[in-house]
Amino acid sequence: MAVTIKSQREIDLMRQAGKILAYVHEELAKYIKPGISTHELDMIARDLIKSKDCIPSFLGYEGYPASVCLSLNDEVVHGIPRKDVLLLEGDIISVDCGVIYKGYQSDAARTYGVGKITPEAQKLIDVTKESFFVGIKEAVKGNHINDISGAIEDYCHSFGYSLVEDLTGHGIGTEMHEDPQIPNFRQRRQGIKILPGMTFAIEPMVNIGGPEVAWCDDEWTVVTEDGSLSAHYENTILITDGEPEILSLL
Ligand code: MF3
Ligand code: CO
Repeated sequence: MAVTIKSQREIDLMRQAGKILAYVHEELAKYIKPGISTHELDMIARDLIKSKDCIPSFLGYEGYPASVCLSLNDEVVHGIPRKDVLLLEGDIISVDCGVIYKGYQSDAARTYGVGKITPEAQKLIDVTKESFFVGIKEAVKGNHINDISGAIEDYCHSFGYSLVEDLTGHGIGTEMHEDPQIPNFRQRRQGIKILPGMTFAIEPMVNIGGPEVAWCDDEWTVVTEDGSLSAHYENTILITDGEPEILSLL
């Protein structure tokens, strides 16, 4: 599939989808406390999304059963909310959510600490978020996808962390996953040239240990093979004539 350049009308709708998703994340974050179940968080997210006249894009996507992915500790992404999984003090949790507003998608993830967490866990969360901002400095017209990928990799490697290679960022628009793929590590190919009007979801997934991941028996949850902690940070962005615009932040 070709990479799409969004029209002004489409950009306006993606901006609205992004703002709503940013609001959902901010509201949901208030409930991240010891004792709440991941299922309860999913119900809150679903209600928040529906209250803003949006569709939860994850629900039913390739059979995914919830409106958010909630991934704890050594879970990298795509953790399925459960009634019997309660947040514990010291956990880290990645919250990944997507909405569709009038046919246009936004996708974003944040990682939080539950109560008091170790300095090592906080550092991983901080560096993962920072690597997104380092990466999008390269998301400017005339650069190539690999400039984003290489910048994210170099930044995380400078802290001794590794990048998950089996999952990537992606284009986004009327579909959650559009071309191009946006890996979080350097490729041999430079990738497509970046142009104004493109919209991307950039999402570093960063492990304290090795880059290898495994899939759980539920066929969704991705975990680190060595059991090390993993963090995730993602926003939907718009390429412009100047700096990229982050659509999924308030
Ligand atoms: N945010 C994820 C991504 O970027 C999508 C979650 S998978 C789903 O690929 F099935 F839950 F939708
Ligand atoms: Co995504």
